[in-house]
Amino acid sequence: MIIIRDSNREDAEGVARVDVSARATLRETYRPNQKALAHKKAMARQLHRLVAICGGTIAGTTQCYVDGNAMHLIGLGVHRDFRRQGVARALVAEVALRTRRLGLPVLITHTVAETGNVPVFEALGFQVQSRCLDEYSASVSGAPLTAVIMKLELRE
Ligand SMILES: CC(C)(COP(=O)(O)OP(=O)(O)OC[C@H]1O[C@@H](n2cnc3c(N)ncnc32)[C@H](O)[C@@H]1OP(=O)(O)O)[C@@H](O)C(=O)NCCC(=O)NCCS
Repeated sequence: MIIIRDSNREDAEGVARVDVSARATLRETYRPNQKALAHKKAMARQLHRLVAICGGTIAGTTQCYVDGNAMHLIGLGVHRDFRRQGVARALVAEVALRTRRLGLPVLITHTVAETGNVPVFEALGFQVQSRCLDEYSASVSGAPLTAVIMKLELRE
């Protein structure tokens, strides 16, 4: 069973474990550049974190924030030991539920195409809204990266 709840201070260690695991996977493809790190710092106060608990362990986490008439989902990550068990699906479902409750019509996320996550978000119900050259990431291979904005429409 996967329990999704708001994060609290006691979660710090478990969230850090998930972040290390998720980041290790992403670092196979890219690193955020200075512009991305500055943006993340500026956003920090607006972010709300959820955690996914499996068997008493923090297995996954994500953050979200409202901007205009959209909810944004960032930093979705699942610990390697808990992947392909529906943890990301459960986190996204909870954020989508909260988005609907706020009367907002859309949930938006950004991903880097070269990570292979576009099909993952499509499996979670998102559609590609736009693609452009990624100005926030530096690729490990040195090749240009593609930033993809994806949206999950929530209107009935
Ligand atoms: C991407 C990530 C969050 C997916 O988490 P997860 O809990 O394993 O995903 P779920 O089990 O909920 O899978 C949801 C769907 O995505 C697809 N999917 C997930 N991982 C996949 C993979 N490695 N290959 C292909 N499809 C995949 C599947 O269609 C899956 O549904 P199904 O299992 O019913 O077929 C996880 O792999 C992760 O943390 N990766 C590193 C960090 C990262 O990339 N975060 C996203 C930043 S944009």
